[in-house]
Amino acid sequence: MMHTGTVINNTVSFVRQTLENAEAGHDWFHTERVWKTARTMAENEYADQLVIELAALLHDIADAKFYDGDESIGPRIAGDFLVTQGVPAATIEKIRFIIEHISFKGGKSTTPHRPIELDIIQDADRLDAIGAIGIARAFHYGGFKNRKLYDPSVPPADYADATAYRNSDAPTINHFYEKLLLLKDKMNTATGRAMAQERHQFMEQFLNQFYREWEGKLPTGL
Ligand code: ADP
Ligand code: NI
Repeated sequence: MMHTGTVINNTVSFVRQTLENAEAGHDWFHTERVWKTARTMAENEYADQLVIELAALLHDIADAKFYDGDESIGPRIAGDFLVTQGVPAATIEKIRFIIEHISFKGGKSTTPHRPIELDIIQDADRLDAIGAIGIARAFHYGGFKNRKLYDPSVPPADYADATAYRNSDAPTINHFYEKLLLLKDKMNTATGRAMAQERHQFMEQFLNQFYREWEGKLPTGL
C-alpha cells in the first residue's frame, strides 16, 4: 500500500542524489523552487496534489541536453523510479506525460488533453526563469559561457533581432529580450500570470536601473 508522505520523501532523496553534480541552472535547488512554486499554485487551482508534487520533483531528472537530445530518458527514469514506490500505473502515466511535455521547446499549449498539472508545473518552471531568480540564473549562465554583461554598441531595441550578434556570443542582457521578457505572456494559469506579473515588473525595473548605472547617472533628486 502506497503511503503518500513516504513516496514524496523518497522522491526528494532520489532527486537530490541524482542531481548531485548537475549544473547550477538545473540543480536540486531549481527543482526545489519549482516544487514549492507548483505547490503554492496548486492551492489556487484544482489539481491532483500527488501528481503535482511528484512531477515537479522529477521534471528535470534527466536533461536531454546531456543525453544527445534524447527526451525519452527523463520520463523513463521517473517512471521506473515511481514503479519501485508502488505508485499506481495511471498516476505514473500522468507524471510521465507531464515530464515529456514540459520543456520550453516541446511544451506547445496546443497539446490535446493537457492536464492542469502540466499547465501548473510548466508555469512554475518558467517562473523560475524570471524575476530575481531568473536574473541570477541568466548572469550565472552568461558567466559560465564567458559572455559580456551588456554591449552598449548594440541598442537594447535591436536585441530581439538576434542577427545583431552572431548568435552564440550575444551579451547576457540579450537573453532578456529574446526570452525572459516574453515569458509572462506564455503563462497557462491565472495564478501563474499573477506571479509572472510581479517578477516581470521586477526585471523591467532591473533593466532600467542597469542602464542608468551603466551611464553613471545620479539618483533622481541629487
Ligand atoms: P529550460 O530549463 O527552461 O529549458 P535552459 O536550459 O534554456 O532552460 O536555461 C536554464 C537557465 O539558463 C534559465 O534560467 C535560462 O534563462 C538561462 N539561460 C539559457 N540560455 C541563456 C542565455 N543565452 N543567456 C543567459 N541565460 C540563459
Ligand atoms: Ni526545470
